[in-house]
Amino acid sequence: MEKEIIEERQGEIIVQESSAKNMKKLFLESYGCQMNFSDSEIVASILNNEGYNTTTQLEEADLILLNTCSIREKAEQTIRRRLSQFNTIKKRKPNLTIGVLGCMAERLKTKFLEEEHLVDLVVGPDAYRDLPHLLKDTEDGRNAINVILSKEETYADISPIRLGGNGVTAFVSITRGCDNMCTFCVVPFTRGRERSRDPHSILKECRELVQNEYKEITLLGQNVDSYLWYGGGAKKDFDKATDLQKATAVNFAQLLDLVATAYPNTRIRFSTSNPQDMHEEVLHVMAKHENICKYIHLPVQSGSTAVLQRMNRQHTREEYIELLDKIKRIVPDCAVSHDIISGFCGETEEEHEDTLSLMKYARYDFGYMFAYSERPGTPAHKKMKDDVPVEVKKRRLTEIIDLQQKLSLEKMQSYTKKVHEVLIEGTSKKKEDQWYGRISQNAVVVFPKTGNTSTGDFVKVLVTDCTSATLIGEIV
Ligand code: SAH
Ligand code: F3S
Repeated sequence: MEKEIIEERQGEIIVQESSAKNMKKLFLESYGCQMNFSDSEIVASILNNEGYNTTTQLEEADLILLNTCSIREKAEQTIRRRLSQFNTIKKRKPNLTIGVLGCMAERLKTKFLEEEHLVDLVVGPDAYRDLPHLLKDTEDGRNAINVILSKEETYADISPIRLGGNGVTAFVSITRGCDNMCTFCVVPFTRGRERSRDPHSILKECRELVQNEYKEITLLGQNVDSYLWYGGGAKKDFDKATDLQKATAVNFAQLLDLVATAYPNTRIRFSTSNPQDMHEEVLHVMAKHENICKYIHLPVQSGSTAVLQRMNRQHTREEYIELLDKIKRIVPDCAVSHDIISGFCGETEEEHEDTLSLMKYARYDFGYMFAYSERPGTPAHKKMKDDVPVEVKKRRLTEIIDLQQKLSLEKMQSYTKKVHEVLIEGTSKKKEDQWYGRISQNAVVVFPKTGNTSTGDFVKVLVTDCTSATLIGEIV
C-alpha cells in the first residue's frame, strides 16, 4: 500500500483541457513533490500570458514540459524513460519544443542538453519568469537554458492556473528552497536558499480560492515551520533586517492563525513540518482553530540519534519523542505521519531496530518510506560511504513498510464506529456510486452517494469498516 502512495507521489500527471482556439498547446507533466505540482500551476499561468493553453493530448502539443524530480535516482530514471518516449512525436513534428523544468534541470544544467538530444530547453525552479524569453530562443532553433537560483523569487504576484485538480482542494506555496542541508538531500542544491512569501500575497491567493469555491487549502513549503516574513529576502539574512522589520516579522504560527481566522469555513492544512523547527506556538494555533486539520506530516528519517547526526538532522531521538508527546498533549486527536529512509550510510542493525521501536512509540497514521539513494554532490555523497548493501536496505525497508501497515490498520480501526466530518473531494476511483473524501486526520473515506450531496460538501460520515489504507462509511 505504501508503495502505491510512493508511486503516486512520483508519477502523477497534471493535465488540463484547453478550450480556446488559436492558442498554442502546452503538454505539462509533473513529477515528485507537491511543490512541483504547485510550481507547474505558476508555469501554466506564465505561459498562458504567452498564448499557451494546456492540453492532455500529447499529439497536439507545440510545447512539452516535464517538471522533474531529483530526490532519488529512480525518480530521475523515470523522467529519462519518459523523455525517450517523445522520439517519434519529435520526428513527426520537428517544430515541437521539449523542455525540462524543476530539480533535474537545476542539478544537471547543460549536461541535460548534452545527454538528452531531444531536450531544447532547461529551466530551473527559480527561473520560470524567463520562460517567454527562453522560448523565443527555441523558436529560433537555439537551445535555451536558465538555471540561476534566487534569494528573492517567490512568484508571489503570479496567480496560479489550477491544473487537473478536483476544484475543492488546492496548494498555496508559502516558502521556497531549504537551508537545512540534511546530508542525504539534493533539495538545497536544486531549490536554493530558503525564502518566505509575503503574507499579503498568501492571503490574497487564499481569498481567490475561497471565492472560487475551494474548500481546503494546504500551505506548502519544504519546511513550513521555518516560515519568516520580514519584508523579503533569504531566511539566513534575517540578522541583517532593520529593527522595524524584525518587530513586524510574521512567523509560521502567526501566518497559520491569520489564514485560519480569515477563512473559518475553509479547511487549512500544511506540509511539511521539520521536527527541529516545529514550535509549541503552532500546536496552540492548531488547537484553537477547528478549521485547521488535525494532522502533521513530521518526517523523522531514522529513530537512531547517531543516524540522525550523520544525516545532519538537528534533533535527537529523545527530542523527537518529546515533540510527539507535546503534540498529543496540546492537540490530542492529531494524526502524525512520517518519512523514513532505510539503509543510510553506516546504518547498523541496531540503529534500524531503533527506527522500528520509534515507529511503535509514535503509532504513526501512515508514512512515506524509501531505501537510501545516494545523490551526487550531496554532503553524504562527498563525505560518507553508501555502504549498506542493496539487499539489506530492501529488507529493512520491507520491515518498516510491514510495521507501518500494522500501525496504519490499528489507527484506521480507531477511527471506526465514530462520526467524522468529511469534505467530499470527488467520485471514488473504484466505484462510480461512491464518494471519496478525507477526515480531518487526513485518512481517506469512501461512502455511498446518498442524499442530495455533491463535490465540495462537508458531510457527517459514520465510519463502519476499514482497511489499512481506507475508511468505509455512510452519511448520517
Ligand atoms: N522537507 C521536504 C523533504 C523533501 S524530500 C518535504 O517537504 O517533504 C521528501 C523525503 O524524501 C524526505 O523526507 C526523505 O525521507 C526522502 N529522501 C530525500 N532524499 C533522499 C535520498 N537521497 N534517498 C532516499 N530518500 C530520500
Ligand atoms: Fe531536504 Fe532536509 Fe530540506 S530532507 S528538503 S534538506 S529539511
